[in-house]
Amino acid sequence: MKQVYLNGTFLPADEAKVSVFDRGFLLGDGVYEVIPVYNGHCFQLTGHLARLEQSLAGVRMNNPLSQAAWQKMIEALVDKNGGGDQSIYLQVTRGVAPRDHVFPVGVTPTAFAMSNPLVAVPEKYKIEGIAAITLPDIRWQNCDIKAITLLPNSMLRQQAQDQGAQEAILIRDGHLTEGAVSNVFIVKQGHIFTSPKTTEVLPGITRELVIELAAQADMPCVEQEVSETALRSADEIWVTSSTKEILPVTILDDVPVGIGKPGAVWQQMNALYQHYKQNVAAG
Ligand SMILES: Cc1ncc(COP(=O)(O)O)c(C=O)c1O
Repeated sequence: MKQVYLNGTFLPADEAKVSVFDRGFLLGDGVYEVIPVYNGHCFQLTGHLARLEQSLAGVRMNNPLSQAAWQKMIEALVDKNGGGDQSIYLQVTRGVAPRDHVFPVGVTPTAFAMSNPLVAVPEKYKIEGIAAITLPDIRWQNCDIKAITLLPNSMLRQQAQDQGAQEAILIRDGHLTEGAVSNVFIVKQGHIFTSPKTTEVLPGITRELVIELAAQADMPCVEQEVSETALRSADEIWVTSSTKEILPVTILDDVPVGIGKPGAVWQQMNALYQHYKQNVAAG
């Protein structure tokens, strides 16, 4: 039986119970993280825990665990679930309180973590690329907070799915923000661009690593606003996330992107990323 972590205890998944008065359940009042694990080693754990801290601060919630305690707990959870490759999901909600919009005082947050299978990125996506559609960014003004309130993201991702696409790329006021479940990069004449870190986008851990890897390899990469026009005329488009890594988008709104195949700059960046990942997996 899969082991999960709930409020200081490891227990079998089917024994883990949370009150119906938990604010996560009633109000979507919580934040989360998803951390890939390769060969038993957590990928970019420090970055994920730092972002969790920022998300908690952004919603005025106390962090129930120190960074060291999170790390120890996550490593134990990975071991209890057999090591290897996993996807660790962490969630902190404000806790159990009578339903009221106003934040309750003196309530202990609910801390939960589980291990899910890390589904390998289909090779087909790396060979052929994926299809994406553009949609208006209907989400709120605090997209830098990794909140569990994902109904808009879910609706957008479903719309993409309904149209046979793997991701929805979001447009706000004539510019790109990010994907429904990913950050977005474009390549134009050998230069890489991605939306800057504002409240309109999640500060993606994969995004940060791609920017670092580009800098190390002297690949020009700029964080600046990308117009819808620039998106539509890009030579390459990539979407990034912890579990999907870096995927080339080769069809946008039924139109081929660039040459309609994963581009040369993506090939280079993906090779750098895979090399980095192999080093982490090797410990
Ligand atoms: C809206 C959104 N943007 C960006 C990302 C990518 O973030 P990360 O690279 O930290 O997984 C995600 C990941 O789930 C996301 O949901």
